Amino acid sequence: MEIVLAIIGLVLLAGVLLFAASRRRDSDSAISQVSAETRRADRARVKAGVGASAADDDLTGKEVERAAVLERRTGDIVPVSDAELEPWVAPDPQEIGVARRQFLNRAIIALFGFNISAFGLAVIAQLWPGASEGFGSKINVGELNEVRSQIQAANGFLYKPEGRMWVTEFPAGALEKANVAYGTSPAWPGIEAGFKALFQKCPHLGCRVPECGSSQFFECPCHGSFYNQVGEKRGGPAPRGMDFFAMEVSGGSLVVDTGTIIEGPAIGVNTTGQEREGPSCLGASTGGH
Ligand code: FES
Repeated sequence: MEIVLAIIGLVLLAGVLLFAASRRRDSDSAISQVSAETRRADRARVKAGVGASAADDDLTGKEVERAAVLERRTGDIVPVSDAELEPWVAPDPQEIGVARRQFLNRAIIALFGFNISAFGLAVIAQLWPGASEGFGSKINVGELNEVRSQIQAANGFLYKPEGRMWVTEFPAGALEKANVAYGTSPAWPGIEAGFKALFQKCPHLGCRVPECGSSQFFECPCHGSFYNQVGEKRGGPAPRGMDFFAMEVSGGSLVVDTGTIIEGPAIGVNTTGQEREGPSCLGASTGGH
């Protein structure tokens, strides 16, 4: 938490510094504080007798600006006739150079600021996965009876894309067996609620494992591993059953902690005794039978 706050502080500080630097450039430009290079050129012109008098040369940029503002306020501005209009003179290449430099400076500052902000946000997201509502955070799946109804309406497999998970029912009659087979008691946090929240990623090589409505198994299309409805491996090259998430019941609702992934059960664990209930969804080439 302290690291995150420190990073937020650094990003804000960098933003303030960039903003202040940008304002200072604007202000310098408004009060005619030009670059050293331009001032040197002006001094050379004065020495050569071109431009302002010696008295004018003593004025600072701010004083010149104030005098111009006062002149405008006192309303002494007289319209000029067409005859007094000066002929068009090509712009000073030096001024154009200054404008180009200003543009480049601002572009560099903006780019720098954008990069710092993006980096800061990426670091915060990495260190603080629970900051978002999606994968990595605790997800409220819903009130227990409602979740059960949704699973049944979805033919036994409720998919939650925001948590990259499948939620299935865990039979109450298999709880005791699970406590022994999984090596802990309870077998995993929240099991007494009668659910299992399975990570969709295949423990073999990481493909997304879909459900198969006809067999009532999970069947991986990549290399043919298949798992029963609670994610226990029943065949194929996977090294274990499907990984799953910690759960808890909070205020009558099922909450799945997608930031806590528990390794799937060892090969051979079959707490529910479920067999295929119909044909496989996989072709013969992938090993699904
Ligand atoms: S990735 Fe699923 S069986 Fe290979």
